[in-house]
Amino acid sequence: MDQVDEIKSRVDIVEVIGEYLPLKRAGRNFSGLCPFHSEKTPSFMVNPERQIFRCFGCNEGGDVISFIEQIEGLEFFEALEKLGRRVGIEVVKKGFSKDKQKDKLLAIHDLTARLYHYLLTEHKVGARAREYLANRQISKKSIEEFKLGFAPNSFETILNFLTKKDFGLADISLAGLVVSKGSSTQKSNFYDRFRDRIMFPIYNLGGSIVGFSGRTLDPKMKEAKYINSPETPLFSKRNLLFGLNLAKSAIRENDEAILVEGELDMISSYQAGVKNVVASKGTALTGEQISLIRRFSENLTLCFDMDIAGDAASRRALEIADSAGMNIKIVRLADKDPDELIKHSVEDWKKAIKAAIPVFDFVIESSKRRFDRTTAIGKKKIAAEVLPILAKVTDDVVKAHYLTKLAGELDVPESALYDAISKRTPVGGIEAGQTNIPASSSTQVEKLEGYILALILQGSEFWSKIPRLPEIGRFSLTYKRIYNLLSGELNGVVSGKGETKEDLSELFNKIAGSLNPDELDTYDKLLLFDLSRVVDDADVFIREYTKALNLLESKAIRGELLDLSSKIKEAEDKNKDNELVKYRKRFQDLSQKLSVLTKGN
Ligand code: CTP
Ligand code: MN
Repeated sequence: MDQVDEIKSRVDIVEVIGEYLPLKRAGRNFSGLCPFHSEKTPSFMVNPERQIFRCFGCNEGGDVISFIEQIEGLEFFEALEKLGRRVGIEVVKKGFSKDKQKDKLLAIHDLTARLYHYLLTEHKVGARAREYLANRQISKKSIEEFKLGFAPNSFETILNFLTKKDFGLADISLAGLVVSKGSSTQKSNFYDRFRDRIMFPIYNLGGSIVGFSGRTLDPKMKEAKYINSPETPLFSKRNLLFGLNLAKSAIRENDEAILVEGELDMISSYQAGVKNVVASKGTALTGEQISLIRRFSENLTLCFDMDIAGDAASRRALEIADSAGMNIKIVRLADKDPDELIKHSVEDWKKAIKAAIPVFDFVIESSKRRFDRTTAIGKKKIAAEVLPILAKVTDDVVKAHYLTKLAGELDVPESALYDAISKRTPVGGIEAGQTNIPASSSTQVEKLEGYILALILQGSEFWSKIPRLPEIGRFSLTYKRIYNLLSGELNGVVSGKGETKEDLSELFNKIAGSLNPDELDTYDKLLLFDLSRVVDDADVFIREYTKALNLLESKAIRGELLDLSSKIKEAEDKNKDNELVKYRKRFQDLSQKLSVLTKGN
């Protein structure tokens, strides 16, 4: 058994996932609200026998390692390490890496951060930077926790350092730490990207450094105040939040994430004890960043200078956050960075956070401040700015609340605002009608087959009570494969010759082992399908099973009867008496069978 299997066999997926979200027994499985998308009724299922999970809403799924990868934002290996620690297995990295290139880039970042950090904290070249940070009241402890560094005013510090460590120029350049002057691949063609800057390593959620931002120490700011790593295979600005790796547990504990703009705002707040804070680095919030935050809390408090109504990117972010079920509040600080405010008074910072107002109130307030709501033109402008935002609010009650509020502020009838909104968002029509196209009969049959197989798989404790089994020939291809693999065990129990295996996970995993990836996907869905109300009670189960089987068989028989009737007609036309007798007999048998099946339905 390799380490992956060993770790997987020692951790229990139900226990691990249970630490992130409440799970409830649901028949053979466990269910809960999906942590990967917003929902009000549970479609997230966990199966203990196969140690797998899947959300039937957003289709995320996999084993315990992929769950940790996704929820913690970790690479495969990092997730494995984390689970390994849980069961006391130290993971050996060799041979596990899925991606050698990424590992090389991670190593480059790690070493570079160490060098920058050393230069800041120990080397004489870092004296000015140390002084700068001291002036900004960044503590030694923060410098260590954030592993801040200094990139000296030189064109080849990192270039020489990394090439001496035997990294190739292609990798160093791919990591974004050097810039090329031309197209040549010679070393002389490259120079250090970050020069004379305080260096802020940017971590992914797993705690690996994937990029840097650097603040210039040049008081004249001849170059940009901040520069960042370019987009690389590790680093994507839309996908990262500065400080999240450190702040995530505080965000979970406080059930609130505070979003500030700058690295130094984030660090100041963290060091002052308000730790549930991350920095967006000055850009409009992206959907990716929102889903990162949402893993830890649905409450997001924004503290930056932004004009939500006026800025399309912010409006879009708001819409995404709202439809993801996030509650957003806005903190306004009077002409101060959080960093400056915190220096002045931590208490004021805490007060400002407490006083944050819900975003839609903020939107109305800010619009009111800019236009004169006593004039018709002013009203029109406010409505034109605020209504498109309110129109997209997903929760009807919240939407109604703000429409009432806006109507009050503008002193216009609410109905006028509703009219304005409904003009903007056409409903029904072709789009609505299209969803009613009936499913083709073959997919209906497949659904039934799947349902019956799911019942069988999840209702193993009732196998001995099953009155009869489906005819194997009835199933379509994938289901036939699964049913075949199951039938040895199943037949024995149903006919009373065997007993249900004690260890169902052995049986379930054995079947899984014989399936190809597509079949496996179908199979795992059948195992995870929520049948809690059916498989909790023997009578309900048998009734449901029989009904579904009758329906499946009667559908098949109806098809056959249709087929036979045209054959009968043909035989009549051609006077083929022998065949006619045979067909008629079969027709009678099937009709009788059908009437038995449909009796009481
Ligand atoms: N920023 C950036 N690139 C720039 C300017 C700014 O990435 N050229 C990001 C940085 O993360 C910065 C944030 O936007 O922290 C806000 O910019 P700004 O308000 O100009 O800087 P401050 O955060 O006030 O920077 P400092 O306190 O270091 O002066
Ligand atoms: Mn600042």
